[in-house]
Amino acid sequence: MPLVTSTEMFKKAYEGGYAIGAFNVNNMEIIQGITEAAKEVNAPLILQVSAGARKYAKHVYLMKLIEAAIIDTDLPICVHLDHGEDFEVCKSCIDGGFTSVMIDGSKYPLKENIRLTKQVVDYAHSKGVVVEGELGKLAGIEDNINVSDKDAAFTDPDEVEQFVKETGVDSLAIAIGTSHGAFKFKGEPRLRFDILEEVGKRLPGFPIVLHGASSVIPEYVEKINKYGGNMPGAQGVPEEMLRKAASMSVCKINIDSDLRLAMTAGIREHFALNPADFDPRKYLGPARSMIKELVKNKLVNVLGCDGKA
Ligand code: G3H
Ligand code: 13P
Ligand code: ZN
Repeated sequence: MPLVTSTEMFKKAYEGGYAIGAFNVNNMEIIQGITEAAKEVNAPLILQVSAGARKYAKHVYLMKLIEAAIIDTDLPICVHLDHGEDFEVCKSCIDGGFTSVMIDGSKYPLKENIRLTKQVVDYAHSKGVVVEGELGKLAGIEDNINVSDKDAAFTDPDEVEQFVKETGVDSLAIAIGTSHGAFKFKGEPRLRFDILEEVGKRLPGFPIVLHGASSVIPEYVEKINKYGGNMPGAQGVPEEMLRKAASMSVCKINIDSDLRLAMTAGIREHFALNPADFDPRKYLGPARSMIKELVKNKLVNVLGCDGKA
């Protein structure tokens, strides 16, 4: 099976009230852990690559590893650029075989975001590649911003129809209170489902994307802290909120931090119990198994995309 775009995946996910998992990949063990889990539960996948991942592993290595995963699993897999920051990086990924790119113009005023996003869409569509845009800025808890500034960071539903119509994007990332990383909320987790609902009304049938959607699973944080780590106050998006978003118009849920935590917990535990080990297979193997277990649980119990490949 060749690489696919996310078009069919999103259509089925929207109609079925579930979401596709978009997992960040950086190396072989991460790709194998994710794709082996998806194979076992027959789930479609989006594997996403950040600029940092391309710099770390090199574009060609990641492409070839993903091609190998397709041969190994025969699953529908979409390879996506995560947070493309300008036209050049999007073009480089499109020319280099990606089937989907994100152009993240969310830091610009609306007019410039539309201009840049449309430029990427025009090029991508001429090559059969799909595009994710973003409206609204994901807040970081470390920003220590006050409520009115915070409100300004949420996506404004009044802008979404114009943005989608004028850019021609295939999916839209919105800001409803999630943020990247392992420290998402100071107190009670709260997401603006009212904004998601309003966006859904303005864009019927249109796939919405949720970034910053790791749950920061306590079991992994506890293990990291138990074996020498230091992550007090780590907190993520509760799984029931992700299920609710998936049942609404959210078709793509982005997960990176949970993969990092699972892998780190596996490696820390391994060295705590086997301090004399120095064979990378002995600690990367358990890390890969932790990722596989995590992803399987997400696909089946949170995203609901098992059996949909
Ligand atoms: O949204 C960001 C992703 O977690 C990727 O992070 O840029 O460190 O690879 P990265
Ligand atoms: P997390 O940091 O919550 O995993 O979010 C990842 C993400 O949004 C990648 O684009
Ligand atoms: Zn993101």
